[in-house]
Amino acid sequence: MKLKNKIALVTGSSRGIGKAIAVGFAREGANLIVTYRSKKNRAEEVVNTIEKAGRKAVALQVDIGKPETIKEFISEAWNVFGRIDILVNNAAAAYESEFLKMSFNLWRETLSLNLDGVMLCSQYTAQKMIDNGIKGNIICVTSINGYQVELNFSAYSVSKAGLDMLIKSMAAELGPYGIRVNGIAPSVVKTEIVPEEFYEKQGALFKKKTPLGRLGEVEDCVGPAILLASDESSYINGHIIVIDGGMSITQL
Ligand SMILES: NC(=O)c1ccc[n+]([C@@H]2O[C@H](COP(=O)([O-])OP(=O)(O)OC[C@H]3O[C@@H](n4cnc5c(N)ncnc54)[C@H](OP(=O)(O)O)[C@@H]3O)[C@@H](O)[C@H]2O)c1
Repeated sequence: MKLKNKIALVTGSSRGIGKAIAVGFAREGANLIVTYRSKKNRAEEVVNTIEKAGRKAVALQVDIGKPETIKEFISEAWNVFGRIDILVNNAAAAYESEFLKMSFNLWRETLSLNLDGVMLCSQYTAQKMIDNGIKGNIICVTSINGYQVELNFSAYSVSKAGLDMLIKSMAAELGPYGIRVNGIAPSVVKTEIVPEEFYEKQGALFKKKTPLGRLGEVEDCVGPAILLASDESSYINGHIIVIDGGMSITQL
């Protein structure tokens, strides 16, 4: 087992990619702090799945888009098992809007959750790791949108571009404390964040553009996350693994 007895906090792990990563970490021996914003029952199902696998898990509610609540949330999460070895910043939202019609609220809400929230979760967790002599690990779920334009998703894309530099900045500043920071950047993974119309309008085009000929599944993100969380990547710091079946290396 690659994460035996590690304590992992995965934000937004009530469904989608975060859920798959949380369950995957548990399979590798980690105990989990699962988080949700609104869907408590789903988070409880994830906890049950992890417990059935013989690991411990607790579900906590948090709105990561509310910066004033993050410090207390990280303290609460830390106190569940008395430490955190691995933080996965996964929770995010993607709101669609044409740039010219985009409200300032949509822009702020997106940056507040996808960037401010990640920064604060990482800062508070890293400080606790340092204070407790834990050589921890931070993984951020970013996106190929961080470096490729998707029409009508400017706020989301900017948040992920900012996150990409945050990953590198944190890796450089936290590395001396033995804390590694890396990211994973999926292309399109079938979850609820992807609007249904996407599959009708663009699904075929994305498959065509992807050398592996298919869209991503949540399980495609799990192996790379385990690699980055484990000692198997002990000299990888400040990097982002692109999970896109080769899409971003091709031209139409
Ligand atoms: N799916 C893709 O195609 C894709 C591609 C590239 C990158 N990503 C990235 O992968 C990550 C996970 O995305 P996903 O597709 O798995 O999304 P998802 O299925 O929509 O799941 C989002 C998760 O985040 C939680 N969440 C949403 N808003 C929150 C908030 N304000 N505070 C705290 N938690 C909140 C949700 O909790 P509730 O269930 O309780 O609402 C849920 O657990 C995101 O960072 C996303 O940008 C996804």
